[in-house]
Amino acid sequence: MQIDSLIIREVELNDLESLRQISIQTFTETFSEHNTESNMKEYITECLNTDKLKQELQTIGSSFYFALLGQQIIGYLKLNTAKAQTEHHSEDGFEIERIYVLKAFHGKQIGKILFEKAKSIALEKQYKTIWLGVWEKNTKAIAFYTRQGFTQFDHHLFKLGNDKQTDILMELKIN
Ligand SMILES: CC(C)(COP(=O)(O)OP(=O)(O)OC[C@H]1O[C@@H](n2cnc3c(N)ncnc32)[C@H](O)[C@@H]1OP(=O)(O)O)[C@@H](O)C(=O)NCCC(=O)NCCS
Repeated sequence: MQIDSLIIREVELNDLESLRQISIQTFTETFSEHNTESNMKEYITECLNTDKLKQELQTIGSSFYFALLGQQIIGYLKLNTAKAQTEHHSEDGFEIERIYVLKAFHGKQIGKILFEKAKSIALEKQYKTIWLGVWEKNTKAIAFYTRQGFTQFDHHLFKLGNDKQTDILMELKIN
């Protein structure tokens, strides 16, 4: 694989179906091992459907980016600012809500390139801190974020289907 040819570009409304597909594939690859089939199905049906993703794409303060190798979408990023943040730690917070890379491409610096994209946008817009929430059992992602310099500052509860889970909240000062 030639990482040099990786392109990061913003997702547009006419990419909706591609966004839905990469969202479902990466979510399934990441979480089906540790969650029941019915909870997975419920989340995918309720949260990764066309209407919901369209709404997210149109939300002021949210933006999505694809990582592309040629025509193939191999990962994506979702960022939130201002009222689009999933939690309002501060009005001037900058949230990475999702970084997902297809399993076949893990460990090839794609996640880091997506993170660097997020960081450059945050710096350009003069944010001081990037924050995110990550499932406590997602040890790989926690290791990845720790490698990027994030540290835990809090936690919160969320539900996947009928399963109550804990997210670790992490932050990185960038300015
Ligand atoms: C987490 C994820 C985005 C990381 O992306 P990736 O492309 O596999 O990671 P990279 O190759 O860019 O790794 C960047 C650095 O993090 C380190 N790293 C990545 N995964 C790691 C792991 N599981 N354990 C320890 N270090 C890890 C790498 O060693 C690398 O270090 P380096 O800069 O010294 O070389 C990717 O594994 C993924 O999509 N996982 C599933 C989705 C997910 O869990 N997303 C987060 C939930 S919001």
